[in-house]
Amino acid sequence: MPGTILRLGRNRFGKPENTGHLMSIEAASALLNDWVANERLRLHMKQVSAVMKAWAIEKENADDDTALKWELAGLLHDADWEKYPGEHCRIIIEELEKRNIDPEVIQCIASHGPKHFGVEPQSKMDKMIYVFDELSGFIHAAALIRPARYEGLDVKSVMKKLKTPSFAAQVSRDDITDAVSRIDVPLEKIIEFVIEKQRDV
Ligand SMILES: [Fe+2]
Repeated sequence: MPGTILRLGRNRFGKPENTGHLMSIEAASALLNDWVANERLRLHMKQVSAVMKAWAIEKENADDDTALKWELAGLLHDADWEKYPGEHCRIIIEELEKRNIDPEVIQCIASHGPKHFGVEPQSKMDKMIYVFDELSGFIHAAALIRPARYEGLDVKSVMKKLKTPSFAAQVSRDDITDAVSRIDVPLEKIIEFVIEKQRDV
């Protein structure tokens, strides 16, 4: 959920010697509950996290530690949005650096909005959080306006809404197009995956 433009002004995050140093989901959830009061924003991060974890396991053959990295990046990527909207991303990055968290997780969070933060996604994990971030929120908005919510929500109707500029107008279609152009998976497949993995979160 980028919004304000804050160029981070650097391209290195965390320290290489912290590679493999992660935090538990419980600790990350505690941070989230402490920093974020808005239920909708918390849910957004939990949904992105669930989608990231599922993608890592099902599509990238990730082991437990790698899947945890994807899950953590999703869970914390907007953690500072509510408290520090003008410094979004910088504050959570610094917090995770203080906690000596694995640099890949921090780099992933730093690159989730390249136009806003000035950090290009590099790894597959970076590219996928960029893909999932706006789409997850968009798909949730599409579900919320339906009486049956996710039940029966299909790819076609999401695609149609993407082409309707007035629907969830704050979601950048340009960012979605740019993000998907960096991976070799069609947008329709991504939408299908997001619907399936975040519907029960
Ligand atoms: Fe987000």
